[in-house]
Amino acid sequence: MQKSLFSIKSNDPVARDTYRMVLLTDRPVTMRSGQFVDIALPEYYLRRPISVSDTLPNGIVLYYKVVGEGTRAMSGMQPGMQLDLLTGLGSGFHPEKCRESALLVGGGLGAAPLFLLARELMNLGRSVSVVLGFNRADEIFLAEEFRSLGLPVHLATMDGSVGTKGFVTDAVAAGRPAFDCFYTCGPLPMMKAVCRALDTPGEVSLEERMGCGAGFCYGCSIQTARGPQRVCADGPVFDKEDVLW
Ligand SMILES: Cc1cc2nc3c(=O)[nH]c(=O)nc-3n(C[C@H](O)[C@H](O)[C@H](O)COP(=O)(O)OP(=O)(O)OC[C@H]3O[C@@H](n4cnc5c(N)ncnc54)[C@H](O)[C@@H]3O)c2cc1C
Ligand code: FES
Repeated sequence: MQKSLFSIKSNDPVARDTYRMVLLTDRPVTMRSGQFVDIALPEYYLRRPISVSDTLPNGIVLYYKVVGEGTRAMSGMQPGMQLDLLTGLGSGFHPEKCRESALLVGGGLGAAPLFLLARELMNLGRSVSVVLGFNRADEIFLAEEFRSLGLPVHLATMDGSVGTKGFVTDAVAAGRPAFDCFYTCGPLPMMKAVCRALDTPGEVSLEERMGCGAGFCYGCSIQTARGPQRVCADGPVFDKEDVLW
């Protein structure tokens, strides 16, 4: 874990209530997919955890959805403003566990951490397919960025306006991608359905309300097949077998 000052390079809307924020700092950033940063917001006591979606030589890319006061304040921040971040938090995904081909399944903002994971898997020579689910067309983001990596992207929308109508599991059934492992991030019911539907090894990225975000307060503890675990420090990524749905 490292505490650093970052400067906002850009902070732009990319989809309904969804923003892309690029943050730069004065030293190299080393973070793995599935790890997150904890952002101190002026006038708010608790930091806000956000997954890293991509890394730059001296920076990071985040996507966030406006759901409350803190993320609303973030959406009004201008380029040049400085933010205090804890970086390198959490365990991260394990791309090296995948033998040949990976399926990435994201729901809503859960697409964000899968982008860096896709790049890591490609660097290891694995083939990657992507399935993303959203409620409606104006919520879709990152699909073109995954495609620009040369990856097949199957979309599902609940209202059927784009791609397969229904859940990500419907899009997996329709697209029939080849894979020997999967990685998923998104709403809990979606990840539960994905883990039930897919019989290969898989990893899931969980979310909990967080206090310290760094393993000290035990405020994010959950029960798992391996006993109590802190989502912020032991996770947020867990093997699918460890999650007690
Ligand atoms: C490891 C981790 C990674 C995350 N990555 C992202 C990301 O990449 N992009 C993104 O948009 N969001 C992400 N989140 C969720 C994000 O932290 C919350 O949406 C944010 O803290 C809400 O702050 P707020 O002040 O706007 O909302 P608040 O006013 O604090 O809450 C508004 C609503 O959001 C819910 N909420 C708040 N925090 C969480 C949380 N941690 N988990 C689940 N529900 C929450 C509350 O229950 C409430 O209903 C992540 C959370 C965790 C734990
Ligand atoms: S939030 Fe404090 S231990 Fe996880």
